[in-house]
Amino acid sequence: MKEKIITKKILKWYDLNKRSLPWRKEVFLKRKQYYVLISEFMLQQTQVATVIPFFKRFIKDLPSIKSLAKVNEKKLLKLWEGLGYYSRARNLKKTAQIIIENFDGKLPNNFEDLIKLPGIGNYTANAILAIAFNKPYIPLDGNIERVLKRYLYLKKDKEILKDNLVKKKIIFGTTLRSSDYAQALMELGALICKPSNPICCQCPIKKNCKSYKKKDFILTKNFKKNKDKYFILKVYKKNQRYLLIKNTKFNFLKNLSIFPMKELSNPKNFNENLNFKMSNMNMNIKIQYSKDNQKFPLSYWMDKKKLNSYMLPSLTKKVVQYLEKN
Ligand code: ADE
Repeated sequence: MKEKIITKKILKWYDLNKRSLPWRKEVFLKRKQYYVLISEFMLQQTQVATVIPFFKRFIKDLPSIKSLAKVNEKKLLKLWEGLGYYSRARNLKKTAQIIIENFDGKLPNNFEDLIKLPGIGNYTANAILAIAFNKPYIPLDGNIERVLKRYLYLKKDKEILKDNLVKKKIIFGTTLRSSDYAQALMELGALICKPSNPICCQCPIKKNCKSYKKKDFILTKNFKKNKDKYFILKVYKKNQRYLLIKNTKFNFLKNLSIFPMKELSNPKNFNENLNFKMSNMNMNIKIQYSKDNQKFPLSYWMDKKKLNSYMLPSLTKKVVQYLEKN
């Protein structure tokens, strides 16, 4: 199908079927831009239905970029309480402050400036340019990716790599209604081309959809290999107690109690004692008992007999278990 035709069909479907969402309300331009900024931050890791009441309360209490830039941390976190991923809220405020200080209070309308703002990555920059500024960008969120993969029947590992999807999205074509179009594609993914049980009979582009032709709607996932990382972990033991430190060094387990550790970037003949999987890394840990007099800031002696009375991450518990057995 010609791009112009699918663009037209999708927009026509959207005009008839779009949900009335609070950030889609017709408002003056500056307010619209603020609404898009807030909603896109909230929608980064959270579903539309969850976001709606939070968004309404947020814009009622903080109706402008200026008020957001000035809000105190306590109030900000209260408004975000329940949405999770609190770094989003802190980044949002920092972004508002930078917009006030460096951009005369106006949300930037170009990719280079947007991508430098805290909390704005490739996806959010694309979404803001399309939705707030009506520029011909197509943000590849989970919904749009699904439509693309199904429409073109992209299932092989190579085909579903992000870089390939970015190339393939050209099939969606362009329109003068870029703002509506980005949202129409998201809406098509959310309401029709759902992860399971897509409602193909109502789909405006089923005629040329390869998955529809093949009657195969199963999506494949990219196989992500966990990264191997290598650590030396030091054990300081005094009577029945182990020395733990508050982790301010590694990006994982931030501010939690861990054994002193250092990462090796290029280990040779590494014989690990322990393996531990965390998010996308496979930790290989070599344990060394130590008696040196190194001073650690933010450290304490953890009494192993009272292990359960401490708030410890599972990595630390697993190391204690290992030490007690060996
Ligand atoms: N997901 C991310 N951005 C969205 C938007 N503007 N509307 C609906 N769902 C979204």
